[in-house]
Parts: sequence; structure tokens; C-alpha cells
Amino acid sequence: MSPRCVRVERDGELALVVAHNPPVNTITADVRAGLREALQEIQSAGDIRAVVLMCEGSTFFSGADIGEFSGPPREVEYRTLFNGFEALELPVIAAMHGTVMGGGLEIALACHYRIASPTTRFALPEVTLGIIPGAGGSQRLPRLIGAERALDFILSARPVSAQQAMELGFLDQTIDGDLKSSAVAYARRLLAEGKGPRRTGDMSVDPATATEQIFEKSAEQARKLYPNRNAGLVAVEAVRKASQSSLSEGLEFETALVNERKTSIESRGAIHVFFAERESRRVPGLGNEVLAAAVKSAAVIGAGTMGGGIAICFANAGIPVTMLDADEAALERGLANIDRVYQSMVERGRLTVADKSQRQALMRTTLDYAELRDADVIVEAVFESMDLKREVFRKLEAVARRGAILATNTSTLDIEAIANATSRPEDVIGMHFFSPANVMPLLEVVRTSRTSPVAIRTVMELAKPLRKTPVLANVCYGFIGNRMMEGYAREAQRMVLEGASPRQVDGALEDWGMAMGILAVFDMAGIDVGVNVHKANASKYPPDPAYYQADSALHDAGRLGQKNGKGYYRYEAGKRARIDDPEAIEILRRKSGELQIPARVHTVEEIQERCIFPLLNEGFRVLGEGIVLRAADIDVVWTSGYGFPRYRGGPMFHAEVIGLETLLNGMRRYRDVFGSMHWELAPLLVELVERGMTIAEWERQKLAKGA
Ligand code: NAI
Repeated sequence: MSPRCVRVERDGELALVVAHNPPVNTITADVRAGLREALQEIQSAGDIRAVVLMCEGSTFFSGADIGEFSGPPREVEYRTLFNGFEALELPVIAAMHGTVMGGGLEIALACHYRIASPTTRFALPEVTLGIIPGAGGSQRLPRLIGAERALDFILSARPVSAQQAMELGFLDQTIDGDLKSSAVAYARRLLAEGKGPRRTGDMSVDPATATEQIFEKSAEQARKLYPNRNAGLVAVEAVRKASQSSLSEGLEFETALVNERKTSIESRGAIHVFFAERESRRVPGLGNEVLAAAVKSAAVIGAGTMGGGIAICFANAGIPVTMLDADEAALERGLANIDRVYQSMVERGRLTVADKSQRQALMRTTLDYAELRDADVIVEAVFESMDLKREVFRKLEAVARRGAILATNTSTLDIEAIANATSRPEDVIGMHFFSPANVMPLLEVVRTSRTSPVAIRTVMELAKPLRKTPVLANVCYGFIGNRMMEGYAREAQRMVLEGASPRQVDGALEDWGMAMGILAVFDMAGIDVGVNVHKANASKYPPDPAYYQADSALHDAGRLGQKNGKGYYRYEAGKRARIDDPEAIEILRRKSGELQIPARVHTVEEIQERCIFPLLNEGFRVLGEGIVLRAADIDVVWTSGYGFPRYRGGPMFHAEVIGLETLLNGMRRYRDVFGSMHWELAPLLVELVERGMTIAEWERQKLAKGA
């Protein structure tokens, strides 16, 4: 008897192997056991002439069980199972729908024929997890479509449509209408035409697609797409092997490579982040009896940059949203901006015209607070002013229904103080979105000392339909992400005053793996934004006359970044390409003279260390002070909101990769040169090094003490 997640149905001379493992038909151990039993059943039945493999639910097999990656290797099990289907003496047809990724596509490649509904998407995303396709994909795909195309597909890691899959050559046909009956008809047609098994393993890679030149070109592509990483290059080696060996030899080679890959930092880091993102929503301490309140309607106060983006998130989730601003003109500007965002999605083929109007129909505008009386969640995103925000919250209190969530998107203001402006602080919470709010996946959820468990649960759960990755924080200045950015950016700014060029600093950070150098980030966000924050919060920063003075000097010279075409770099109208600008460098040089900052020659390593060490050090402070629930949450914040490379696993994971002692010694080394004002050691880092403990051990100990 097969476990319930796989069953064999008979339709005359056909056997239909149907898997059902919601939500996405992951190839778990149970599924594999079910498939093995199905295979035996087929082998022992004497009257089956063809086999159709398909799945019920939202998709065909979406991939392997990533949860098993850290356990014992399973490649041999996968290989034996997939080989079993390939070896059958009757035609085996994979009938697919949904999103067919990784192991899901690999089992289809081991089938003899592949058909799919027209909306199916296919991908082998393994290299982005630091590994290579390890269940035959690196060996079978090149046999079907040639080495060059296979490598292109594996290296790009991006999904292709059914149409593209047919053009690439690994899909035989798209099927309109009901997949099951069409698959049955397809199988009967094959039989009628006298078609038998067509094993991928019996084919060989077209030599014209597997020349030395092609492999060299692919290796170049891998180096370019995946700097600091090896998985892409290893994939090239695997595909090369496919062109030189039998399938069984190639599969052995693939297994060896993938097992070596799994122990690599790039793979462990990426998989750590993958799981950390799933874990971040969980709030230990909130009992199961605390249920999320339903969110059927929302409101946003302030239809500016953030408010507009946040309104889009609600509308995309199908939640009606009312926007309120101070005057009609602001509302109109807000709506026009939203229209531009949707229009560009339509133009890029990301949204249909019908969906655009459906989403915009969910948006209403008003100047009257009374119209917010039914909203279940209200997000405030007005100018960053405490007086203004307190006034808004007082007005909200007067109209909002009891129990409505009153959220603020503030970046720098004390949410406790905002909450105290109302008589219902238990409903007040921070929902810190990142710009552009409709694009960036991170949501810092900030609870005050009085936020109710229900409000926390509701917002953490609301993140799901809003398509955000929520991370819970306690109130502190800068919360998690911006607080850790302070020292990272401080050093970048200091170094350009010491004589490094903006390109040198940004280049070193980007070479290290940051999505964008921090000075270019300032240009993009607006230099005035940071300057205003530092002015408004001067008392919170160290008394250092050189603190964030590069920003300040550029700002004084009227350089606001991309928005007026000049900041750390120069920009041509409407373009984002950074152009080195001697004028900016001269401004920085003058400022440096004024502040009497000694010039210094910076190695790439120094730039990277001086930015990254303070970032990691502050992470230990955030963790030690209990601002976050767990270290991995910090990794989520920085990988999903700040362009920290996933393959380095986030700041806390990375700290352990380089070694906590190395980090501590590095901090001390720079403290000896630059003084203790900015290079103060995080107590938790010192403690862990002294006690020889890992972060995980410390977390376990803390949990045990708390229990
Ligand atoms: P913005 O200036 O683009 O928009 C502010 C909006 O608030 C404007 O439409 C303005 O008309 C409206 N407003 C002002 N006074 C109002 C009142 N009394 N009643 C109703 N509406 C009023 O500002 P932005 O950038 O959208 O920032 C909004 C909030 O989001 C701030 O608290 C900011 O710190 C925070 N934030 C900003 C981020 C960014 O990257 N821009 C990122 C994360 C948070």
C-alpha cells in the first residue's frame, strides 16, 4: 500500500501515478516512499502499457525537501528512484502544471515524454542555493537540449514558461483543458503510434553544443553572475561530464559534486537564510490561543512615497484600502504615483490591464478621518515629525473602531511616545516598510512595551498576504536594520573624507557582495533624507565632529543624489549610471581639510573590514539587548532589506564564519587606530569569545534559563 500522498489509478491499460502532498507537492521522504511503491506496483502488474506521472493541487512536484539538506545525503535514493521510472519498459509521461522546480523538473527529465499546461513554469534554481541540480538534472538536461542551453538555464536559475520550455526542447507539448484527461489521451495516442520508452539516459549530448569554447563561455558567465561563489562553476563541470560520460558515470560524478557543495559556506549561508525567513514569523511567547484578528479593510495616512507603496501592498493582497492625506493635491499626487507603478508593471508584462484596474478599484481616498472608522488596520506614513504623528494618532483614536491596529511607519521616532498619545497603546505597533514599499520584502514589526499580543500576531500574520517577510523588534533607535547601518555607513563616509574615492569604497563593498555600495545607496535614497535624520536626532549620535560629514558637505553644496543628478557621483538626466565626479571629490577634500582628517591609503580589505566589522558588532548588541527574538532574524533583516549577500548567510551567520574571535580582534585593531568612540566592543561578542561559545549555544542557554 502506498502512503496516501501517492496513489496509482488505473484507466484501462494506463497507470496514473498521482501524488498529493500539499501545499506544493514537495518531494518529501513520504512522497519518495510512495513513488517507490507505485513503481513496484507498475513493475509487478502485467497489463499496464503506459504510465502518466502527475500531481494534484496547485502544482506538479515543486522541488526537493530543502529541510533534508542538512541531514544525510539522499542523492543516491533520488537517483535510484528516478532511474527506476526511466528504466520502465513502457512509455512514461510527466504531465505537469504549476511551478516545477529543482527535483520536480529532474523527475520529469527522467520520464520519457513531458507535457504541461500552458501556464506551467520551470526552473533549476539550485545554484542560487550554492549547490547544483543533484537528482540527475545536470546530466539529463544537456542530453535533451544540449550543453550550451542547459548551462544557460541552470546558471540563469530563472523560471521559463511552457512556451520557452518547448523552444528549449525539454517539453514535448502544452495541453489545454483538463490535464488528466488530456494526459490520458496523449498516452493513448503515443501507444496508437507505436511509441515506446524514450529514455533521456540513452541519448548523448550533442557535441556541437559541448565544445571547450562553450564551456569557457559558460564559466565566464558563472563568474560574472555569481562572484565569490563556486556553484556556477561546479555546474559547468557537471555538464561537461555529461558530454563525456555515460549517464550512470555522470550521475555518480554529480552526486559527489553536490555533496561537496552542500558543505560549502555559500550553500549553508543561503539555506540558513531560506529557513530563517520561514522562522521569523514565529513569535515564541505568544500562546496558540492568541489569534490574529481578521483584516478585511485597511487605511493609510499620508499618500507620499511610503504611503503609496503601502497602499499598493494592501490592494495587491485584495484588501480594500483608504488613503487619507492633508489635502486633495497630495491625494492626487499619490494616486498618480500609484498609477505609474501599476502602469510600469503592465508595460513589463507583470500585470494585466484588468488586474491593474481591479487593484486600483480597491483604493479610495479621503480627507475625512471619519471615513476610517471601519478599517481593521491603519498605517500612518506622514512626515517624520513626532508632533504631527501624535496629532494623527489622537485623531485616529477618535474614529478608529475598537481593536483596530494603529500602526506607524516611522523610522526614527520613539513608538512608545506615539502610542502614549492615545488611550489605547495596546493597539499601537510599528510597521516599518522599506522603500519602495511595494517591492522590498522586509517588514520590521516593532512592538512597544504595551502592544497587545493580538496586535503583534495580527501584524505578523498580515505580512503573509502583503508578501512581506516580517521580523519582530523591540523599540530602540533605528530598530534592527538602520541601527546596524549606522556604523557601517559611518566608516564609508569617513573613508571618503580620508581620501578614498566613492567608487573605491562602493566598489570594495560590492566586490564583497553587497547589492549596492552604501554611498550609491545614499545617492538613491536622497542625501537630504539622511542629513535631516542626523540633524533631527543629533543628541543620539556620538560627539564626533566628523560624524556623517561627507553627507553633510555634499548636502551643503546642493548635492541631493540621483534626484538632482549629483551626490557622491554625477548622473545624467533620467539615468542611474554612476559617473565619477571630480567636483564631489573636491567638496569632500575640502571638508576633510576643515575637519583636519588625516589622509590614508585604503586597501580593499580595510574598506570591507571597516564597514562590515561595526555592522556585525552592532548585531551582537541588538541581540544582547534582546531587541530581536533570535540572531537569525538579524540575518533576515539584512539579506531582505539591505542587500547583504544571501550566500554569506547574513551578518550573524557571517560573524561565525569568520570566527567571533577574528571579529573581536579586528574591532580591537581598528579601535587602536581610531579610538574607542566608534569601536566599542559589543558586550555579547566579548562574552561569547571569552566563554568560547557559539551564538546558537548562547541562544539555547538563554532559552533554557527563560523556560
Ligand atoms: P513623503 O514626504 O513622501 O510623504 C508624506 C506624506 O504625508 C505626504 O503625502 C504628505 O502630504 C502627507 N502628510 C503630511 N502631513 C499630513 C497630515 N497632517 N495628514 C495627512 N497626511 C499628511 O514621506 P515618506 O518618505 O513617504 O515618509 C513617510 C514616513 O515613512 C516617515 O515617517 C518616514 O520616516 C517613513 N519611512 C520612510 C522611508 C523612505 O525611504 N522614504 C522608509 C521607511 C520609513
